[in-house]
Amino acid sequence: MKKEKFKQKYGPWALIAGGSQGIGEAFARVLAMKGINLVLVARRKTLLEKLSVEIEKTYGIEVRIISADLAESSTIKIIEDQTKDIEISTLVYNAAIVPIGRFLDSNIEEHQKVININCRGPAILVDYFGKLMKKREKGGIILVSSMAGFQGTPLTVHYAASKAYNIVLAEGLWYELRKHNIDVLVCTAGNTSTPNYIATEPDSLGIFVPKAMVPMKVAKESIAKLGKRPSFAPGLMNKFATFLVRRILSRKQAINFIGRSTHNMYGKKL
Ligand SMILES: NC(=O)c1ccc[n+]([C@@H]2O[C@H](COP(=O)([O-])OP(=O)(O)OC[C@H]3O[C@@H](n4cnc5c(N)ncnc54)[C@H](OP(=O)(O)O)[C@@H]3O)[C@@H](O)[C@H]2O)c1
Repeated sequence: MKKEKFKQKYGPWALIAGGSQGIGEAFARVLAMKGINLVLVARRKTLLEKLSVEIEKTYGIEVRIISADLAESSTIKIIEDQTKDIEISTLVYNAAIVPIGRFLDSNIEEHQKVININCRGPAILVDYFGKLMKKREKGGIILVSSMAGFQGTPLTVHYAASKAYNIVLAEGLWYELRKHNIDVLVCTAGNTSTPNYIATEPDSLGIFVPKAMVPMKVAKESIAKLGKRPSFAPGLMNKFATFLVRRILSRKQAINFIGRSTHNMYGKKL
């Protein structure tokens, strides 16, 4: 889509929940390149400040930052207050936590955090910004999910379940909101070399698991697919892996296949 047309449909502002590093930062850059002003939400203020100054300088757009915790129910009020005077026509919900370990070795507080950040957060922001977009009859919503959400996944059981929630949420919204000229896309990313992914220090991925992609490629490819389909797996190898686990393997085989690779990545550390 040409830059001017893109700005008309998805601008003048976009909000990225989890927009200070990794895939969220990459979405910020790609949208900035297209002339969209940004509201970046994340917890670490200094990181947000540094990034916002650099993006404003590099791309010549406006950036607002909101330092807030998406796990807290009070955060939506902060976001509402700080975006009242601007028109947000694109929402990217990217923030997520990925606790690695066995489900029963964790605790209920951690499980609730997964639900709050990975599931309640997107539901609340889609509800708020989706209604505003509906009034204006235009907009775009991207939920960043994961290939982990295609099937049950050991060692990241709750994370994978939360990502399945995002896939199904976005697919339903894609159908419901298209008549209001609002495009919805779920990005089912595979391994991506973000600060969070690198910090997990995965061991061997095994030969069938695609190597980590760079975040900019994930964001660029996803933005290009917004308005064209409900879901998208960036990267050729991830597309192949998606085809394998969703179309070729039985559900049981897919769980075992992904289970083995997750154990290869993290099993030795636990
Ligand atoms: N990296 C991968 O291999 C991979 C693979 C598949 C899917 N994904 C998906 O891609 C998305 C981004 O992953 P990533 O690897 O880029 O993560 P990341 O490097 O940890 O970045 C996450 C972003 O979200 C923010 N964030 C996290 N918790 C938050 C909270 N409670 N409140 C507000 N902001 C919060 C972080 O900033 P603060 O920490 O400062 O808050 C940061 O800006 C996630 O949805 C993930 O499921 C990633």
